[in-house]
Amino acid sequence: MTMRIALVGLGIRGTLFYNALKTRSDVKLIAGCDISPARLEAFAREAGDIPLTGDIDELLAMRPDAVLVTTPDFAHREAVEKAAAAGAHIMVEKPLATSLADAQAMERAVRQAGVSCMVAFENRWNPPFVAAKNAIDEGRLGDIVAINARLNDTIWVPTSMLSWAARSSPGWFLLSHLADMVWWLSGRSAQSVYAAGSRGKLQALGIDTWDGLQSVISCRDGLTATLTSSWILPESMATVFDCKMEIIGRDGAFYIDLTAPMATCLHKRAEGVSTLFADVHGRLQGAPVSMVHDFVDCLLAGRPVPVPLSDAVSNVALIEALHRSAESGSVVGVE
Ligand SMILES: NC(=O)c1ccc[n+]([C@@H]2O[C@H](COP(=O)([O-])OP(=O)(O)OC[C@H]3O[C@@H](n4cnc5c(N)ncnc54)[C@H](O)[C@@H]3O)[C@@H](O)[C@H]2O)c1
Repeated sequence: MTMRIALVGLGIRGTLFYNALKTRSDVKLIAGCDISPARLEAFAREAGDIPLTGDIDELLAMRPDAVLVTTPDFAHREAVEKAAAAGAHIMVEKPLATSLADAQAMERAVRQAGVSCMVAFENRWNPPFVAAKNAIDEGRLGDIVAINARLNDTIWVPTSMLSWAARSSPGWFLLSHLADMVWWLSGRSAQSVYAAGSRGKLQALGIDTWDGLQSVISCRDGLTATLTSSWILPESMATVFDCKMEIIGRDGAFYIDLTAPMATCLHKRAEGVSTLFADVHGRLQGAPVSMVHDFVDCLLAGRPVPVPLSDAVSNVALIEALHRSAESGSVVGVE
């Protein structure tokens, strides 16, 4: 069987998934959609020899089996609802939405349509986190009592990489990954959150959002997570992101340190090289690539997609509560 897949949002992630799937003989990439005419032109030139449109209805009229939604954080809802109504399975980028109301509406649309919908929490395919999950599931750490983690970006991300950072935040863009890891690794849902944050650096540059957010999250059965994300780090950082996590159990601990690049290129100056994904002899490899292949493999085999949609809705509920806490200065319960 050949799976006919369409892409909505042809920026960085849409292009990555296009390149990841284009070598598969059981996938036909049938069309792409983007609201930016300049982006459509650039995609046609640099990446894809597929029909392109600025109109999602035109794309869905081609009856794709599945749609990959890689629009900005705040712009997932319309594409997910329309794809579901058209009977297409969906992979949508994280965070599912930037409001719980949107996330719940999307969940309803998916349930009513009876399609599969997977949210792209790619760290579930990232080897250091998978190793942590295995150690926990094998009981080597015992009862998990604390998870402390940070995931930061350089200021290049909100100022140059993303044109829409003002409509997102380090909470939605970065900390949602850490919150997903807390849930996936421990199986303990969040009950309440206290958060604080800082603003000013990006505002001075005309980007009205948080510079950074710090949070203490109380989860069920005595687990506390302290999670923090900032996206104003200097561009002199070794790579565009850094991440550290310590998972503390009653019988052991697990440390993940992604702050030092796995590869450094020394030319005029030392530059860290991202190895999150790479072209290996003509085929892309890495966590996001394994993720999109798994999504397709599950659909082809008739298996459930590996990230339940309810996980992503709970993730939105937590991150929304975290922002409310940072704004109010109070502890906020998580729905
Ligand atoms: N899983 C990860 O680790 C990871 C990493 C980076 C980004 N992301 C997520 O992926 C999503 C996309 O990020 P990106 O870096 O590719 O952004 P991007 O800005 O490079 O691409 C988004 C594209 O969507 C287009 N677009 C906007 N609204 C649209 C609409 N209504 N219909 C069709 N196209 C529309 C824009 O013109 C743009 O080309 C975001 O939600 C982001 O948080 C996830």
